[in-house]
Amino acid sequence: MERRFDPAGPLRGALRPPPDKSVSHRAALIAAMGEGETAIEGYLDSADTRSTLVAVGALGAEVEGAGAGAIGPTLRVRGVGLRGPAAAAIDVGNAGTLLRLLPGWLAGQEAGSWTLDGDDSIRRRPVDRVAEPLRLMGARLSCREERLPPLRIEAAPLRGIAYEMPIASAQVKSCLLFAGLLAEGETRIAEPLPSRDHSERMLAAAGAEVVREEGAVTVRPAARLEPGEIVVPADFSSAAFFLVAALLVPGSDVSLTGVGVNPTRTGLLAVLRRMGAEIEVEPEGERGGEPSARLRVRPSPLRGTKVGGGEVPLAIDELPLVALAACFAEGATTIRDAAELRRKESDRIETVAAALRGLGAAVETGEDGMRIEGGDGLRGGTVDSRGDHRIAMLGAIAGLASRQGVEVAGMGAAAVSYPGFEADLASLRAR
Ligand code: S3P
Repeated sequence: MERRFDPAGPLRGALRPPPDKSVSHRAALIAAMGEGETAIEGYLDSADTRSTLVAVGALGAEVEGAGAGAIGPTLRVRGVGLRGPAAAAIDVGNAGTLLRLLPGWLAGQEAGSWTLDGDDSIRRRPVDRVAEPLRLMGARLSCREERLPPLRIEAAPLRGIAYEMPIASAQVKSCLLFAGLLAEGETRIAEPLPSRDHSERMLAAAGAEVVREEGAVTVRPAARLEPGEIVVPADFSSAAFFLVAALLVPGSDVSLTGVGVNPTRTGLLAVLRRMGAEIEVEPEGERGGEPSARLRVRPSPLRGTKVGGGEVPLAIDELPLVALAACFAEGATTIRDAAELRRKESDRIETVAAALRGLGAAVETGEDGMRIEGGDGLRGGTVDSRGDHRIAMLGAIAGLASRQGVEVAGMGAAAVSYPGFEADLASLRAR
């Protein structure tokens, strides 16, 4: 699907971005692990999160409120209980989060076997990062070439471990937290840097014993989970496209409402502010353990910056947008310590660099990041999404901010996280 995005005047108005993808995946999985019915308010209707609903359905959970056409305002999931998932072959589609989180729940069952597989992009995404620690807990797993899907899981008794994650990954951490619920003894997971903590918050709210200290989290075995009600805020990672668009398109004034501002997700705000952006954050309170806010942004002159270290996990999915903003900043921007970008829906060091170079930017890549020479903005041209939703939407925003417009090939990929992206963008342009 090809789409053209031309520079056509300011973006104005307010909108609520779609519900959070990370929180939605966890909500469906934890509801499926739960006893009785869980009401999920504002579940994301996207390709990825639909894969999770199909998966929990295959495991025996009953899902109400998700039609073929749309997902209603409240989704009801009747769980199978922590020890109740049925044996199944599961197609995770394009959803890396589902691929990494689900094995944690399944590995420690008393009986059964499961296979997890997905699309071509999923088949290139490593699962050894969860298979290795799960095996240390006693799990029986096999995967292709020791590190790629399909992943096969056979039920086995698990024991708690103390594990030091070599990389900061919320997916690995969440997988082990789930496994710890079914293991004997406690499971302690130390992370080199803080990563998103939605699982910790949601499991604690559902009654699990989750003890957090600086740099580590410990979970104890659980008899049952009772989530009751889960509220999903709007997705900061989706809001981020409009934040950067409003920053770059002259005359814009955009407000984004209901946006989840869990501090383990909002690293982009600190980076953009350092670059000179003025972003107003007006807190809107906390629901279901996740804070949300209204964000208002208008254009400001930007300067280059350095991004690395602890900031990287807090902005991991927004680093492509940092690179885009950097093209419009005075001076150079460097992104380091971000080798994980190579393991996303595409190799985002290469796909971001290719996209921006194709539009006229000067970008050098390295093993763990890139350097963007700013100042000149973007000419325009063509961006190929390479099947990666965030690259498709990056191309669209680049088009609005460019001098000649951008043609995005493979715009359909946006539906993985944000099916209404083009309509929302059009609503900000119409005002
Ligand atoms: C996610 C964690 C991050 C992120 C991904 C969603 C999650 O991945 O990039 O889009 O929901 O836990 P890693 O945990 O592999 O860094």
